[in-house]
Amino acid sequence: MNGHRLNVYNLPSHVEERELAGGTAVVIDVLRATSTICQALAAGAREVVPFVTIEDALAAAEKVGRANVVLGGERRGVLIPGFDLGNSPSEYTPAAVGGRAVYLTTTNGTRALQHARFAKQILAASFLNLASVVASLLVATRVDVICAGTDGFETSEDILLAGAIVDNLAGKRADHWITNDKAQAARKTWQELLAEARATGQPLKQLVRQRLDESRGGQNLHEVGNGRDIEVCSQIDSLQIVPRLNVHEWKIRAT
Ligand code: MLT
Repeated sequence: MNGHRLNVYNLPSHVEERELAGGTAVVIDVLRATSTICQALAAGAREVVPFVTIEDALAAAEKVGRANVVLGGERRGVLIPGFDLGNSPSEYTPAAVGGRAVYLTTTNGTRALQHARFAKQILAASFLNLASVVASLLVATRVDVICAGTDGFETSEDILLAGAIVDNLAGKRADHWITNDKAQAARKTWQELLAEARATGQPLKQLVRQRLDESRGGQNLHEVGNGRDIEVCSQIDSLQIVPRLNVHEWKIRAT
C-alpha cells in the first residue's frame, strides 16, 4: 500500500467541503446533470458554467448579454421558465450549443459541483464517459467520488456508476488504492451487475438501463415524462470526453 485514497460519498453532505481540498473530486449525477454536461461539451459547447440558483444563472446571463449564452437546466425535472433548454442530454445538439457557453442550473448536480469547489480538480462523470474518466484518474493520488443524490436522498444510479469507477480503478491497480467502506459497497453493486450480465448473457448497457429505470432518479424522470432520457444516459462509453471544472474560472471544459 502506498496510501492512495479512493473514497465514495453517497451524498455531498457525507463529506465536508474542506476535506476535499488537495484531491481530485469526481462528481456524479447520472440522471441527468453530469450526463448532460458530457453531451453539451461533446456537441461543441465552448464551456458549461454551473450555477446553484436560477437567479444567479439569470443574473450572469444578463451580465454577458442574454443572447450570448444558452441557459439550461431544470427544476422538478422540467424546463425552467425563460430558459432555452431543459436538462435532457438530447437537447444539447451541435445546433443548439455548438461554440456557445451553456449556463446550467439543476436541482442536485450543479449543487454537488459547488460542494466540491475546494478540490484540486473537479471532473464530471456519467456512464457516457466512464472509460475516459477512469483513464484520467490512473495517475491521481487521491480521488473523492461524490454522488449528487436526489433531493438529499441517496440514489442507486449514482452509486452504481461510483462502483463502476472504483471497480475499474481498483481492478487495474488493486495495491494502489485504499478505499472507504462506501467505495467497497458501491463496487459490490457494480460487480453484481457484471455477474448478472455474465450469467444471463444480457448486454451490460441493457442492465444498466434497467437499473436506471428502477432508481429514484429514474422514477422521477418517468413522472415528468422524461423517461426517454434514461436510454440516453445508459450508453456506456459513448463519449470520449472528460469535463473538467476550472475552479478559478468556474467553467467546465472538455479535456
Ligand atoms: C439534478 O441535478 O437534480 C438532476 O440532474 C435532475 C434532473 O435532471 O431532472
